[in-house]
Amino acid sequence: MATTSEPTVKPQIRQTECFIGGKWVPAASGKTFETINPATEEVIAQVAEGDATDVDLAVEAARDALERGPWGKMDARDRGALMHKLADLIEQEAEELAALETLDNGKPIRDSRTVDLPLTIDCLRYYAGFADKIHGQTIPVRGNYFTYTRREPVGVAGQIIPWNFPMLMVAWKWGPALAAGCTIVMKPAEQTPLTCLRMARLAQKAGIPDGVINVIPGYGPTAGAAIVKHPDVDKVAFTGEYKTAQIIMRDASATLKRLTFELGGKSPNIVFADADLDAAAAGSHFGLYFNQGQCCCAGSRLFVEEKIYDQFVERLAELNRSRRVGDPFNPETEQGPQVDQAQFDKIMHYIERGNQEGARLLTGGHRVGQRGYFIEPTLFVDVKDDMEIAKDEIFGPVLSVLKFKDVDEVIQRANNTFYGLAAAVWTRDVKKAHHLAAKIRAGTIWVNCYDVFDAAAPFGGFKMSGIGRELGEKGLDAYTETKTVTVSLD
Ligand code: NAI
Ligand code: MG
Repeated sequence: MATTSEPTVKPQIRQTECFIGGKWVPAASGKTFETINPATEEVIAQVAEGDATDVDLAVEAARDALERGPWGKMDARDRGALMHKLADLIEQEAEELAALETLDNGKPIRDSRTVDLPLTIDCLRYYAGFADKIHGQTIPVRGNYFTYTRREPVGVAGQIIPWNFPMLMVAWKWGPALAAGCTIVMKPAEQTPLTCLRMARLAQKAGIPDGVINVIPGYGPTAGAAIVKHPDVDKVAFTGEYKTAQIIMRDASATLKRLTFELGGKSPNIVFADADLDAAAAGSHFGLYFNQGQCCCAGSRLFVEEKIYDQFVERLAELNRSRRVGDPFNPETEQGPQVDQAQFDKIMHYIERGNQEGARLLTGGHRVGQRGYFIEPTLFVDVKDDMEIAKDEIFGPVLSVLKFKDVDEVIQRANNTFYGLAAAVWTRDVKKAHHLAAKIRAGTIWVNCYDVFDAAAPFGGFKMSGIGRELGEKGLDAYTETKTVTVSLD
């Protein structure tokens, strides 16, 4: 599965160092790590491997920018204008950024172009509009006092992001932080640092003052943990695995940092016999296989009503057989490689477990080609609730289909997980749809659709799928502190 197609714009590797206080600097240790093209397994570039020493410098720069630089004094509306400028610059370079994302992550170029880039730009513009609309209240209290609240930036925000939507995760994190007037120390995922570093360059070009955004590429237990433990970091926003969030929570306890987490899921996707079955099949296919199955909200537990089970799984198998897997730079490609060897191995392990546990493999199950981390769209049917493939987040192109009979049963089974990120319901019955929307314990419920995201719609998890919400007006809560001011009028 070698990469043969040439992108229309060849992505240039321009930024590979730490970005601290507006300067590009190597890691203090001099160390670097390789970032790999997952379609070819070739090294794309050596990137600075930051650790605690570099994080210290970045936090210092962020604190300075917050308290002494122009950012802290800037009119909120001007802050918003700089964010709009950043979005404009990203739009101007969209074609090259899309190619860079595809090179580093392996996602199909048509997804980078039509999903990642537009959503990234939209998110920054959405939050740019909020910069001058974050305000407190005047509050009637007993006695002769005037009480009001101010919403102040939480301070220096540490932001740790994963590799599945590298640019988009930058926008989800920077958008509300910048709108609220915070400064930032970000660690991109070690698998996909390149677009984040490019965005930092564009932020500087847009005129966002030096030190407001700092980026330290590197590994989790070193650079990531240093951000979490740093006493001068006020808040950490993290997206990734719940087990990592547990470590972060422990590491943050010494300084009682504010934490927001967006973690994974095992999201139930429920198809009733009365649904538009063409739409449900297409939506269920998309809801799992999109982005090589590497989505926190992937509809990885597909519950299908008994009456239509056989015909429905056959439709799903058809869709899988025609899915185009291969060179991510080919504009026709629908599925590229998994992001790295570790993810590839994890997914292949679960496919083996599914076979061992007695699920019926209807399509896929194998590697594609000899080079690159490609896996066939894999479909397990007749899956039982207690099988590992029905319980664990696989984060790959592996769909588990389960059979159900009635509404109460499926609600109970859908909720029988420690996750609660998302769910979907396919039905023409409005009452049933709203009933399930209320009963399923998850942060997002899609009815007759899947993976519909909008910068204005809050997103996040119940239970162990997360803490707090990103996106929407709610997303600003994590980046502001409320201060109450009471003035005696006597
Ligand atoms: P991860 O949670 O280990 O990594 C995400 C980010 O956290 C990366 O930037 C990483 O360097 C950083 N990190 C790792 N350990 C850290 C620590 N001790 N302190 C601070 N930061 C740390 O996820 P990983 O290992 O890339 O993937 C493992 C599994 O996690 C996947 O198979 C998938 O199931 C899940 N995952 C979920 C994501 C989501 O969107 N919710 C995204 C990525 C992975
Ligand atoms: Mg990890």
